[in-house]
Amino acid sequence: MENNLINEEMIFGCFAAAQKGEKLEQSAESFVDVEEYENAVMYPEFARWARSAGYPEVSELFLKVAGEEKLHSVWLRELYSEMGTPAEGNDTARAKATIATIKQNCAKLIENNPQKVIENALKVAIRVEEREYQQIYPKFRDQAIEQNNKKAADVYQRVIDSEREHANWFQAALAQVQTKHATKEAAFA
Ligand SMILES: [Fe+2]
Ligand SMILES: [Fe+2]
Repeated sequence: MENNLINEEMIFGCFAAAQKGEKLEQSAESFVDVEEYENAVMYPEFARWARSAGYPEVSELFLKVAGEEKLHSVWLRELYSEMGTPAEGNDTARAKATIATIKQNCAKLIENNPQKVIENALKVAIRVEEREYQQIYPKFRDQAIEQNNKKAADVYQRVIDSEREHANWFQAALAQVQTKHATKEAAFA
């Protein structure tokens, strides 16, 4: 691991992609596994970085989105009441390992360049949310439509709309962080 920066690609390793299965139930399990990972691990960790980097508002936003990821899993669990704890997906396991590696080094790295770390975390969050609402979850919705499961299709559509909103919130937060930085630089020029 580089010792001077948590770069964007490294943070993107924290993203776990839900996998569309052959059966609708398999897709549902992967969806819940990923959404609960984002709720319990990924976004709380990003929130912790933002707090220690001195960006409490960005930290609050990560926590707010974390709460909504939990809701997404609850919406789908209502349709699959027997689900229990889904098996951990390969990609989720890999993403957790990446978070653990970054965690070991992040205190020092955040100290070195707090703004860059938070900008990169927001850029990754935007990519994650865009990937979900543009590519991954539309496939889940279409699979549900093909199988005449309107309730599941409706839930995936609600999730798509919500992930789009998350991407917009993160875009706005990134613009604010960058504007603040530009203003500060101008003041010292
Ligand atoms: Fe979500
Ligand atoms: Fe989201």
